[in-house]
Amino acid sequence: MIKKVKSPQKIDITITPPGDKSISHRAALLNSFAYGTAHVSNFCVGDDRTSMLGCLKGLGATIITHSGCSVCKTEECFEIRGNGFEGLTEPSDVLWAGNSGTTMRLVSGLLAGLDFYTVINGDESLRKRPMRRITAPLETMGASISGRDGGALAPLAFNGGNLEGIKYEMPVASAQLKSCLLIAGLLAKGETTVIQPAESRDHTERMLKSMGAHLESEGLSITIKKGDLNSVNVRVPCDTSSSAFWLVAGCCHPNAKINLQNVGMNPTRTGVLEVLENMGADILVKNERMEGGEPVADLVASSSNMEAVEISGDIIPRVVDELPVLSLAACFAKGTTLIKDAQELRVKESDRISSTVDILAKLGAAIEETDDGMKIKGGRQLEGTTVSSHGDHRIAMTSAIAGLVSTQETIINGAEAASVSYPTFWDSINSMQD
Ligand code: S3P
Repeated sequence: MIKKVKSPQKIDITITPPGDKSISHRAALLNSFAYGTAHVSNFCVGDDRTSMLGCLKGLGATIITHSGCSVCKTEECFEIRGNGFEGLTEPSDVLWAGNSGTTMRLVSGLLAGLDFYTVINGDESLRKRPMRRITAPLETMGASISGRDGGALAPLAFNGGNLEGIKYEMPVASAQLKSCLLIAGLLAKGETTVIQPAESRDHTERMLKSMGAHLESEGLSITIKKGDLNSVNVRVPCDTSSSAFWLVAGCCHPNAKINLQNVGMNPTRTGVLEVLENMGADILVKNERMEGGEPVADLVASSSNMEAVEISGDIIPRVVDELPVLSLAACFAKGTTLIKDAQELRVKESDRISSTVDILAKLGAAIEETDDGMKIKGGRQLEGTTVSSHGDHRIAMTSAIAGLVSTQETIINGAEAASVSYPTFWDSINSMQD
């Protein structure tokens, strides 16, 4: 699909971004083997949701879609009926994780502990992404796993069960790895401790605690004991990472005001706000409140004069999905922005260092690729041209936002990639075209 985006004279819009993908995935997965019935509302949309729900249904989970739910009084909700780990059964076919790294890595934690045979696979992009980071510690816990390249690449096959708890120093600050091991820890004899090199999103820990898991955190170390979970209803906040596109659009466009509603404000996710605020962005945070165990707020992003910053170190895991669109913001900031310590970007849905540099350089930015990040000299007008999404949802959406703030039309090839996390994204873009 090809999309064309022009810069409008003025942007004045209110957007409710889709439900948070990370929280939705955890709510579906954990409730599928908890005891009881849970209602999950404002569930994320897009292809990744289909992947996660498809894998859980493949494992025998009962998931019912309600429209106009009388329990949670929302338009759409998922009712998930769990019956402990015993409620799940050996799938008759390969589980399909599609493009979703979160699905493959989190579900693998469960498969490692279940006493039957499963195979999980994904699309061409997911089959290139590193899986040794999960298979190595799961094997140390006693799981029997095989995969391409000695277990480094999907498809992965599991003969699960008989796990033992371990103490594990994680080599990367990855919430997917941490969550995988904590889920396996629920099925492992004794205690499982994971020690993170830096803090990453903590939705799994929050949800596990609310479901009665024996979980304790101390600094960067988290310990979980074998045990069952009780179902919990979840009202999912709107996705912080999807909101980031509109925050950058609002700040970089010369005549803009973008209101965002019910945005997730979990401190392990709000690195994007911290970076934009350090750049001098005009973002108003309103109506801060708690919803279903997670902080949320309404945000207003307005045209801003921004200055360059360095983005590096411990903040990287807290902005990992927003770095492509933050690189676009850096094109509009006075001075040179440095992004360092972000080598994890190279193993996302695309190599996001190369793909971000490719689209922004084509659009006229002064941007250079480094081993672990980028160097961006701000202040040059972006001109608009033809770019490719590289089959990556966040690159497709970053390109569209670049189109909203470039002098000429931007043409995006492979625009359909946005539907992985945000299928209604193009409706909002279309509504901003004069
Ligand atoms: C996610 C964690 C991040 C992020 C991904 C979602 C999650 O990956 O990039 O989009 O839901 O746990 P890593 O933990 O591998 O960095």
